[in-house]
Amino acid sequence: MPDLDVVRLLTAKRDGARLDPDAIAALVRAYTDGDVPDYQMAAFLMAAFIRGMDETESAAYTRAMLYSGEVLDLSDVEGTKVDKHSTGGVGDKVSLLLAPLVAACGVPVPMISGRGLGHTGGTLDKLEAIPGFRTDLGVEAYRQQLADIGVVMIGQTAEIAPADKKLYALRDVTGTVESIPLIAASIMSKKLAEGIDALVLDVKAGRGAFMKSTTEARRLAEALVGIGQEFGKPTVALLTRMDAPLGRAVGNGPETAEAIRALHSVDPLGGEIDDLMEVTLALAGEMVHLGGGATSVQHGRQLAEAAVRDGFAWGVMREMVEAQGGDVSVMDDPDALHGAPVATVEAPDAASAGFVTEIDAFEVGLAAVALGAGRAKKEDDVDPKAGYVLLKKPGEAVAPGEPLAHVYASHADQANPERLAAAFSFGESAPAASGMVLDRLDAAGWRSRSASGAGEPAAA
Ligand code: URA
Repeated sequence: MPDLDVVRLLTAKRDGARLDPDAIAALVRAYTDGDVPDYQMAAFLMAAFIRGMDETESAAYTRAMLYSGEVLDLSDVEGTKVDKHSTGGVGDKVSLLLAPLVAACGVPVPMISGRGLGHTGGTLDKLEAIPGFRTDLGVEAYRQQLADIGVVMIGQTAEIAPADKKLYALRDVTGTVESIPLIAASIMSKKLAEGIDALVLDVKAGRGAFMKSTTEARRLAEALVGIGQEFGKPTVALLTRMDAPLGRAVGNGPETAEAIRALHSVDPLGGEIDDLMEVTLALAGEMVHLGGGATSVQHGRQLAEAAVRDGFAWGVMREMVEAQGGDVSVMDDPDALHGAPVATVEAPDAASAGFVTEIDAFEVGLAAVALGAGRAKKEDDVDPKAGYVLLKKPGEAVAPGEPLAHVYASHADQANPERLAAAFSFGESAPAASGMVLDRLDAAGWRSRSASGAGEPAAA
């Protein structure tokens, strides 16, 4: 690496200079190849986080990550391949139920996901809570499974998006997650490498998201959709709320169990997890439509609802678990993924006011990481059982001493129920109910801005 002066590049970025695109490409290549150590790359990420990257730098960084490995061509697999990616939230197990659900509607879903990141959980860690489930399939097995059952869910590999595999793990533990160019490059490099024809993005806004305000989340959505367009892939982004955890489960085993139950319960389309189903079905409608399986987004959603109700989506999930080496008995006994609770969080005297008004998703995410659901260092293992099931959500009535949540963990002494309890707020009346999908962006622009001058949606 004679012509790459890493220290000069780092100091230039630290001092706010605009980096040459070739130098960025060389740095990403050298790091992927193991020629630049973690400590130097961490310094680069922090400098890029603080100083930002302009459009030219961001484009160079994204391309370098994308072409750090193979860009798959799945044209030999029949159908329009559509994937979804979330920008990250707490309790966000949507991918686990959405991918088999969309496949059940006849649209193939090749999905490459990540591990836990910062205070949020990751799809790979959730899938691996299923004993035996393999997320490290090679390219041929990935392609074959997609052709055979219409859905495959893996992680970045040494062949596909290897730069993101390393950079993602490094960002997780170096405080360099919440940056629009770093997130956009991370997401789009693996999505564009996996062989998709179209993409749907769930861009989260709120306390539990990396983008806390809708203004920031809109900027991230615009960056993501812009990259999709540049690469000729139809891309739609939904802006969704992430203030309280999505659904009731947080943590790998608990979330995977909830995802299985969501596709296999007596009333799978709502009830106790209506926020989770609202987001999942909205994304499913978009994906089935983009994949050519429906005449409109609304029609796609109806097909998805039917696939949940008739159990077909659950059946596809089961096939996927089996195909990827997972223990299929969890499909009938999801509770085995977390076992019995090790503690229960009870409502304090403040609950005499009558209602849960808020559950701070950020605090819940941090508490779950501390419980063992996430990592403090790259080398850490996660505890697959660690997490929570929220028995009360915002808007629900509560009295002092009533159970608010169950805590799960492999070791009871880690439970720390006080930490979770601190994330709850109480009040005399229930907060106003609000929809989960705030807006929609595609190549034609934001829905709120194109609809007869409607302007901003509620939460701007
Ligand atoms: N998801 C990703 O894949 N990368 C990020 O940086 C954030 C969310």
